[in-house]
Amino acid sequence: MSIGLKENKEFKYSTADFQAVRNKLRNIAGINLVESKDSMVYSRLSRRIRALKLNSFRDYLSYVDSHSDEHQEFVNSLTTNLTSFFRENHHFEHLKTFIKNKKGPVKIWCSASSTGEEPYSIAMTAVEALNSFNPSVSIVASDIDSNVLETASNGIYKGEALDGLPISRKKQFFQRGKGKNAGFARVVPELRRMIEFRKLNLMDEQYDLSRDFDVIFCRNVMIYFEKDTQVVILRKILRHLKKDGLYIAGHSENFSHVSDLLEPMGKTIYKTKV
Ligand SMILES: C[S@@+](CC[C@H](N)C(=O)[O-])C[C@H]1O[C@@H](n2cnc3c(N)ncnc32)[C@H](O)[C@@H]1O
Repeated sequence: MSIGLKENKEFKYSTADFQAVRNKLRNIAGINLVESKDSMVYSRLSRRIRALKLNSFRDYLSYVDSHSDEHQEFVNSLTTNLTSFFRENHHFEHLKTFIKNKKGPVKIWCSASSTGEEPYSIAMTAVEALNSFNPSVSIVASDIDSNVLETASNGIYKGEALDGLPISRKKQFFQRGKGKNAGFARVVPELRRMIEFRKLNLMDEQYDLSRDFDVIFCRNVMIYFEKDTQVVILRKILRHLKKDGLYIAGHSENFSHVSDLLEPMGKTIYKTKV
């Protein structure tokens, strides 16, 4: 790949700059940026360079080195937080049956929760499964990105985010904003109360979490890690899942090759063997 110098861009940006960004992101967060993300890197980091009144990518990378508080901004700028309510709906259908059958409390960890649509979908599923706004289901939702966690914790979304939901769910689970909040919707407090939001980097040596989860959602985040790292992370995550618990992966994340750890239960749904 050759980016070359982007002459007509606001900041000089070369292949070497892109590679330096990739290395730094791998070192700080263990995230592997694919080669095709060079334009995304330019547009996201240009905003930081401008905000800090710096002159170049090189200056910015030195700034990151000498300011540890910039590490989080750097990671936040480069992570992709795409998500939506009931994304990959078959997972939630499966979860509903699991919760109904499990007579007793259910503990769920949503390990890359982004802006909250995924953990709130889990909470809605629990309410629907047990027909109660006080179900015996608790959810820990975590992410590396502090900005998305704040959005998730506030539980306020643009009206369009709810477009794919049936009217019954919109009515039951959201409050429409009025006046200056028109066009926004807030999740009802009963859902919010079911979820504990935590900052957590899946690349950390170990996770400060209990080891008795019944279900772990880890969707559309493994794609950021190298193949070998994925298995290392998977092993760490599975320490927190009870035997026979459910591990739910993203649509392009296949773990059939780690058959000593996981047994396939359906499309990207696995039962743990360890
Ligand atoms: C594409 S979103 C997926 C959101 C949601 N799981 C879904 O499938 O809709 C990926 C999320 O992974 C988070 N992430 C990236 N690297 C991470 C890491 N090392 N530890 C924890 N979260 C991470 C990003 O901040 C982002 O919110």
